[in-house]
Amino acid sequence: MNIDLNKIKILLKDSKLIQQIFYYEFIDSTNDIAKDLMGHGLLVIAERQRRGKGRRGRLWISPYGGLWFSLVVKLNRICTPLYNLMAGVAVAKVIKKLGLNVCLKWPNDILINNKKVCGILSELIKDRIIIGIGINVNIDIQEFPIDLRGSVTSLMNELGNEVDREELLVNIIKEIENMYLKFDENEILKNWKAFDITLNKYVKVLLNDKVIEGLAIDIDNDGALLIKTSSNELMRFYSCDVSIR
Ligand code: BTN
Repeated sequence: MNIDLNKIKILLKDSKLIQQIFYYEFIDSTNDIAKDLMGHGLLVIAERQRRGKGRRGRLWISPYGGLWFSLVVKLNRICTPLYNLMAGVAVAKVIKKLGLNVCLKWPNDILINNKKVCGILSELIKDRIIIGIGINVNIDIQEFPIDLRGSVTSLMNELGNEVDREELLVNIIKEIENMYLKFDENEILKNWKAFDITLNKYVKVLLNDKVIEGLAIDIDNDGALLIKTSSNELMRFYSCDVSIR
């Protein structure tokens, strides 16, 4: 069954954040549509994406049954990875309520049993941020290319039953709305750390083709990851790929 846009509109009618909702059956990328429209409180949802955008120019496979959406909001402070973390916390809280053991890997991976179930791509344009969220919801793992099947999962795969995509989306938007309107970085970080699997681990960071290894010691108030390298140098990362050793 397709996403029920009317149900979403009814459930979000009292939202203090969402002003406009656009729904598409098949488009290149919800982030790109959001970028063209750019209104604060804009929500763009797609049933499928032709060229879903992952981080670092990667393709994000977006078949039918997933939840692919982008939210545009005004920055309420200088852009930092905190918006990514805020969105990650919102998704993790909602997935946890489904009874699943969900974890967050800095800066934007949402994992269940060490497999990726959701990714977030935030793009900054002037005073707005586009928060693009992709969740593998009611997708059979066979729908993914063979090389990804060992590292991804879906909510349906984990639960053994389908999940109501409209309720999932609305609950995530409500969590984001609560955090965005308060924008209390300590609270965002505290919530992030409750799901985090990156801290106190030895990690490898890939930055511009250079690999840096060290202990992930903290996430600072900007949402940046602090790493202590083997030569005891303290390094701060705002955006990069991290793998846990
Ligand atoms: C990642 O690489 O982990 C980030 C993936 C982000 C995918 C979502 S799906 C909805 C939105 N539109 C896009 O084109 N990308 C994001």
